[in-house]
Amino acid sequence: MKYTIITSVFVFSAFLLACVDEREKASSNDSAKCAPDEVNPNGTAELAVIMRGLADHSEAMKTAIQKGEALPLQPEILERLKTADRTDKNIDVQVYNSHADAYLAQMSQLYGAAQEERPKYFNATIDACISCHENFCHGPIKRIRKLYLSVN
Ligand code: HEC
Repeated sequence: MKYTIITSVFVFSAFLLACVDEREKASSNDSAKCAPDEVNPNGTAELAVIMRGLADHSEAMKTAIQKGEALPLQPEILERLKTADRTDKNIDVQVYNSHADAYLAQMSQLYGAAQEERPKYFNATIDACISCHENFCHGPIKRIRKLYLSVN
């Protein structure tokens, strides 16, 4: 009897440990896809650097739109969106590229839009950031949402 209890406790603990291990694996996989700087200070993929540039550029566009000023020039990094080295080499390239094309198309629409239409098209570029991130990299979504302009 005593041994049965000890054995059950042992089996149960092993089961618990296995679950915790799975959870840790899952979360470390998630963050690997988004290249957190503190984990990977020297080996940041080019795409992560491009993304920081896009986030800055979006901030600059937002400010320009709010002030009614000319949009900043489209950054050259846009050309590397599809070809830059990624942290996660195993993503579905076809799905990634279609999201990248959708984002680039929104950017062209925004740059071609009349001044009063800019807030709407700007928010559509942010929608495009988020739809790609929903597939590939959840971490920054909360931060990206803050870029939305309020449109009345
Ligand atoms: C076509 C897909 C796609 C689009 C569009 C996209 N992202 Fe990303 N983003 C990614 C992927 C994939 C990563 C992970 C980069 C890596 O390390 O390889 C990432 C990473 C990031 C990061 C984290 C960078 C870091 O420091 O590691 C930020 C911030 C970010 N994106 C913001 C944005 C913003 C803002 C936009 C829109 C202006 C945007 N993204 C559009 C796919 C996309």
